[in-house]
Amino acid sequence: MNSLEGKVAIVTGAAQGIGKALADGLAAAGARIVVADLKGAEDAAAGYPDGVGLTVDVADEGAVAGMVEATVDRCGRLDVLVNNAGLYASLAMRPFTEIPLEEWRRVMDVNVASMFLTCRAAVPVMREQGGGAIVNISSGTPFRGVPFLLHYVTSKGAIVAFTRALAKELGKDDIRVNCVAPGFTMSDGVREHPEVIEKLRDVSVAARTIQRDQVPEDVVGAVVYLAGPAAAFVTGQTIVIDGGQYFH
Ligand SMILES: NC(=O)c1ccc[n+]([C@@H]2O[C@H](COP(=O)([O-])OP(=O)(O)OC[C@H]3O[C@@H](n4cnc5c(N)ncnc54)[C@H](O)[C@@H]3O)[C@@H](O)[C@H]2O)c1
Repeated sequence: MNSLEGKVAIVTGAAQGIGKALADGLAAAGARIVVADLKGAEDAAAGYPDGVGLTVDVADEGAVAGMVEATVDRCGRLDVLVNNAGLYASLAMRPFTEIPLEEWRRVMDVNVASMFLTCRAAVPVMREQGGGAIVNISSGTPFRGVPFLLHYVTSKGAIVAFTRALAKELGKDDIRVNCVAPGFTMSDGVREHPEVIEKLRDVSVAARTIQRDQVPEDVVGAVVYLAGPAAAFVTGQTIVIDGGQYFH
């Protein structure tokens, strides 16, 4: 029903965390995986049949163009792009007046401009092939207006708008653009930051109707669905996956 057999999928930030779980799920559905990450890409790719690992900074225009070129060179096509790489747990929570402009700009570059760059590079390939699927990873934070992370929350809200507007541009090319917005997730990145866990784990669990930790695997089903033929008529949508913390 939703096989990705014969398809090629780039997953950015797939060396660990949510991205790795997404790559595992797409591979299980039959896709050939391209792991694009700042670090650990080749090791992670070795875990997939014919996996390709590319060291890429998704905020770097030339590196992103090279990522798509290398994918087409090595895999012959590009069907699915999952824009997952992002800055989150390493960001200090603080009043917005204390956020340095440089940090604001880096968050916008890595979390938002990256998607502009990856889509701009990937869409011509998908167009020539007659279609494709793009899935962007946002967050539940813009829907809830989470405080003290203004750059992050703004960047994740932008991704929802980006998804809707790009979906309108690309429908005629049969390229679908959708978005998934997870709640607070016990990813590798989060586990590296005990202070974040202390601040957000218990309050997040308590705010959900399904009261347990969210894990990267919780996000997989929606992304595999949106990437595949079962979602052939679904575009411009955002699916919030947070155990019922926010009703979209
Ligand atoms: N963990 C959460 O609570 C949560 C909740 C909602 C949304 N998200 C989003 O999910 C995505 C993954 O988050 P995670 O918690 O799994 O993170 P993580 O820190 O565990 O993994 C992020 C991966 O992205 C890579 N990466 C970071 N910057 C990059 C860059 N410039 N170029 C290429 N790769 C880069 C890292 O090397 C890492 O492998 C992010 O976009 C994040 O905002 C996370």
